Amino acid sequence: MNEVIELLLRRRSIRSFLNKPVDMNLIKDLIRVANHAPSSMNREPWKFIVITDPSIKERLSKLHDGARHLANAPVAMAVVAEPDVSPETWMVDVVNATMYFVVAAYSVGLAVAWVAAFENETAKEILGIPKEKKLITLLSVGYPDPSYEVKPKAVKAPEEVIFLNRYGNPLG
Ligand SMILES: Cc1cc2nc3c(=O)[nH]c(=O)nc-3n(C[C@H](O)[C@H](O)[C@H](O)COP(=O)(O)O)c2cc1C
Repeated sequence: MNEVIELLLRRRSIRSFLNKPVDMNLIKDLIRVANHAPSSMNREPWKFIVITDPSIKERLSKLHDGARHLANAPVAMAVVAEPDVSPETWMVDVVNATMYFVVAAYSVGLAVAWVAAFENETAKEILGIPKEKKLITLLSVGYPDPSYEVKPKAVKAPEEVIFLNRYGNPLG
């Protein structure tokens, strides 16, 4: 094991945060890291909207039961993909950038929760996202509430997901 692997195994979604501000320069640094993620032809077809306005966080938090934590997170973030910039690969590229951001955030002691279940069109309107762009996910970002109990998680065994040479052929 090394530190990176330990961090990847330790990371869990946290949906409750300390009432402690997050330095905006730190968020900028983490987004700089995200911009280093691999993307097809290095097109970087993504945008991040950092949301600190309590009224906007509140409106977004009401779009789904599972989005409530957005209201209490010090920072909320919208991840936007740009199919117009990279029509074939935006869906992969944007996930790479999101994971770079998330892993970097955990490495400095922050925690993150994804929200993908929400009224997407309404959220796009609230955030002024142009029609041709895709709102991929909302993220809550903050210092983790130590009393938050993570949900139990089952992880598939490697043999359930690895094939050798051809689909369906066990690695053994
Ligand atoms: C694309 C994506 C969308 C997600 N959407 C939601 C969501 O809408 N609400 C929620 O509570 N968790 C959401 N999650 C978090 C997952 O439920 C969580 O990652 C999964 O249960 C594994 O738990 P872990 O992140 O603690 O390892 C989402 C995660 C991803 C990657």
